[in-house]
Amino acid sequence: MKHFLAVSDLSSAEVQDLLDLAVKLKEEYFKKGNPPYFKGKVLGMIFQKPSLRTRVSFDMAMRHCGGDALYLSPNEIGLGKREAISDIARVLSGYVHALMARVFDHAHVLELAKWSEIPVINGLSDYNHPCQAMADALTIQEKFGKTKGLNVTFVGDGNNVAVSLMHVAAKLGWNFTIANPEGYDLAPKAVEIAQEIAKETGSKLTFLRDPHEAVKGAHVIYTDTWTSMGQEEEAAKREKVFPPYQVNAQLVSEADKDVIVMHCLPAHRNQELTDDVADGPHSVIFPQAHNRLHAQKAILARLFGVM
Ligand code: CP
Ligand code: NVA
Repeated sequence: MKHFLAVSDLSSAEVQDLLDLAVKLKEEYFKKGNPPYFKGKVLGMIFQKPSLRTRVSFDMAMRHCGGDALYLSPNEIGLGKREAISDIARVLSGYVHALMARVFDHAHVLELAKWSEIPVINGLSDYNHPCQAMADALTIQEKFGKTKGLNVTFVGDGNNVAVSLMHVAAKLGWNFTIANPEGYDLAPKAVEIAQEIAKETGSKLTFLRDPHEAVKGAHVIYTDTWTSMGQEEEAAKREKVFPPYQVNAQLVSEADKDVIVMHCLPAHRNQELTDDVADGPHSVIFPQAHNRLHAQKAILARLFGVM
């Protein structure tokens, strides 16, 4: 594994290997703390958009393992504006040991990886959010074990988070269903990739409009914001389209009785997810957020080649 840009770049075995390592690192962290696996390593973190979880969990993942992280704000770097991405990648390759980048345009993280001499991690783009998906899979596996054929249902916008969830589900042999309004479909390219993966793993992919039909038999209901970062000018329009896709107590009651409710956060409470569900017995949104830390330690460990 040279870079970590998309779950679909990994084999099913590599995805499972990262999850197994994450479990090990998590157990070790809570028992006695992690030893300094990343001693002498610095992660450069390029952010073109705001972040709570990605920024803090990567920073802490590095610190827990004896390394360090450097936050590079949108204004400092001016990715592709102040300076060409190819130049930034080559300059930073001489200063730090890996790069994490949160970008608007997916092509920009690919460009960084193309020119970088060090590993590049995709910390969210307009296309996907693979680090989130690894934490999501870890959370689902903690709840249900390494069970094939789980039903994972995404309700809402066919966005970056949905793409990576679909890909990780397909890689692990889980069935993936999405219900989204017309005009807010998953990227066709992402669907094609998922269909290829599903052929190998036997996972079933279903694309629906009706959220009620989609949650029938669901073991996981996942939702995300109706308006992603960079789409703010569409917010008013989206707020008219998406209310039927709200994850509320009624919708949750139509799923499997042991369903878990997931959200990558930040949530717009009482829009896509009601308070009673977010804070209710089915919700795993905070363990899910905490799992970012452990999943990313595994990704870093494999990229640094220290474990
Ligand atoms: N889920 C997630 O990536 O959160 P942040 O935008 O706060 O990093
Ligand atoms: N889909 C959201 C995810 C935030 C973590 C966004 O891109 O803004």
